[in-house]
Amino acid sequence: MSPPLFEPRRRLWLLRTPSTSYAVRIDEDDTVRHVHWGAALTLEQAGELAERTPAAGSSFDAVGGAEELAVEGGARFGPPGLQVRFADGTRAVEWRYAGHDADDGYLSIHLDDRHYPLRLTLHYRVHEDSDVIERWTTVENRDDRLPITLRRCDSAAWTLPGRDGYRVSHLVGGWNSEFRLRRAEVATAETVFTSRRGLTSHHANPWLAFDDGTAGEEHGEVWSTALAWSGSWRITLHRDPAGRTTWTGGHGHEGLTWSLAPGETLSTPVFAGLFTAGGFGAASRAWHAYVARHVLPHPGEPRPVLYNSWEATGFDVDEAGQTALAAQAARIGVELFVVDDGWFGGRVGDHAGLGDWTPNPDRFPHGLRSLSAEVHRLGMRFGLWVEPEMVNPDSDLYRAHPDWVMHMANRERTELRHQLVLNLARPDTAAWAHAWLDRLVAEHDIDYLKWDANRPFTEAGWPGHDDPDRLWIEHTRAVYRIMDRLRADHPGLRIEACAGGGGRADLGILARTDQIWTSDNTDPVDRIAIQHGFSQLFPAQVMGAWVTDSPNVATARQTPLRFRFHVAMAGALGVGGDLATWTEDELKEATELIATYKRIRPAVQHGTAYRLTGEGTLTAVGFAHEDRFVVLAWCPSRPYGHQPAPLRLTALDPGATYRDPDTGATYSGAVLLRSGLPLPLPEGDHASALVQLIRIED
Ligand code: DGJ
Repeated sequence: MSPPLFEPRRRLWLLRTPSTSYAVRIDEDDTVRHVHWGAALTLEQAGELAERTPAAGSSFDAVGGAEELAVEGGARFGPPGLQVRFADGTRAVEWRYAGHDADDGYLSIHLDDRHYPLRLTLHYRVHEDSDVIERWTTVENRDDRLPITLRRCDSAAWTLPGRDGYRVSHLVGGWNSEFRLRRAEVATAETVFTSRRGLTSHHANPWLAFDDGTAGEEHGEVWSTALAWSGSWRITLHRDPAGRTTWTGGHGHEGLTWSLAPGETLSTPVFAGLFTAGGFGAASRAWHAYVARHVLPHPGEPRPVLYNSWEATGFDVDEAGQTALAAQAARIGVELFVVDDGWFGGRVGDHAGLGDWTPNPDRFPHGLRSLSAEVHRLGMRFGLWVEPEMVNPDSDLYRAHPDWVMHMANRERTELRHQLVLNLARPDTAAWAHAWLDRLVAEHDIDYLKWDANRPFTEAGWPGHDDPDRLWIEHTRAVYRIMDRLRADHPGLRIEACAGGGGRADLGILARTDQIWTSDNTDPVDRIAIQHGFSQLFPAQVMGAWVTDSPNVATARQTPLRFRFHVAMAGALGVGGDLATWTEDELKEATELIATYKRIRPAVQHGTAYRLTGEGTLTAVGFAHEDRFVVLAWCPSRPYGHQPAPLRLTALDPGATYRDPDTGATYSGAVLLRSGLPLPLPEGDHASALVQLIRIED
């Protein structure tokens, strides 16, 4: 891939992705300013735009063009992405350009403070197969004696072209209601999206998308960004009264300070962004492709159909019960059997035992090895739930190491779900966590870990440490390091990211996990909305989706097995119902549906996803893969006797003919695109359909 283009006279750089460009320049005051992010431009065209970028101080109100990382200092009044305090008490920075490095697809611009020993480097990376631009910063304390205090250190600031009517799309939620998509006008104000919880959070996700109010699913300009970080984060969106729209984001929430030691360099997480002219659907597809090509460790592997009894049995797991469930699971076609919470220590409920990671001898008299062997004998992989960052105060671990948890002198230790958070920023705690996980995986032939984290941080102190707020960064980094080491040392190991459902879903965790547990809410009607939001950023192959019992434990809603399967089949399918109570008819239907899922799995997990909207409550997703287009459609409710109109498809060849292998019906692409696909929906509520279309060679 070629290096970014550079025009020395204007000190202007142009980064090029397959269909977009991104331009920045260095101003007369040596500030790096934004020039362009959008449709492809030549260097000359970017130069023309650069001439328009206002210089600093050019009018009463003007503070110059938007900065690539806004700092504190001078006539700047917007939200800063970099805030520092030097040892003598001086705050803010004044930059001097200190050179740049450019390589294939990579640019870094160095800025030194004019007086103090601080270097900031803005990093940019692009790939030849993606329109995503990866950005991050490094700050270096080049002094050998004195620390520098960081009060904020963002990864990047992003800027939109000057237009009216911008909307922001974002994800909100809570436990059991993650990834709800919201779309709102960008207020002329500062709007903060943040997690102060130490985890990515259920409540907000560090993904945003912007359009000028006119984009739709398949048309219009969309700018979207996502932060690759699994701890606390903050993104501040600022629309000023003059109409400039920028957002700055990075790890950590407001009020934290970090000390940059003499000689130390701090690197921020990647804040990735993309532009598309193809609407929200194209933005999602660009994210999905990026996640598959540049984030996931094993994107090409089919995600196995898994079984997990958490919803069915809760903490009541034992060798006999799990062995019986494993036999049933294998019978219906499950490929990975996961034992959830309750297998270790005194963990027979959520009050005790967390932290004591040895199999409970009453429940597993032969340890876990015999169950692991039995699961393997049945032809399935063996997975185990762990929650390495947490501890119940009623545990041997806590009794031995009460100082290992995050805590503050003279403050309560707030328990949530009767547990506290271990401070993995401490090298000894992190070493302990890695050691037991490593041993557990090796000794029990474990193929899969479900890595859970069921509570946010509180009293996140580190008594005795001279820079205690560092734990907000270092804890997350320690989690990453442990996962990375486990994966390196156990190449067959796969990991599921979970945090009380979907509380830790982001590009940072996905770089070292294989799928995400989307939500503890497995009600298929609720799931349609949750999956819709999840799909904005994340591909179907990482979206854990279980079929559970009816009525649903969370909502008490009763739904047909087929509807439950059809909703879950739009992701990485799992089964979480109590198979011991399923009738022979249900087991037979499940067996058939799992077999069908395995047939459509290449399309769902490795195809290209199109969100489709039908009439009334009908929504659908279509997956295009090679010569196939697979449609999963759901209609939770409809008026009596009303058959929704045919579902208009997309991404088909209008000149081709498509055949439904299940019915033998053939359709022309043009008709499917313009008039739609008649769906074989059964009467009544909770109707669903799965249709495969195969392109027929002419
Ligand atoms: C929360 C997870 O989301 C559930 O699936 C389950 O693993 C429980 N934790 C176990 O405590």
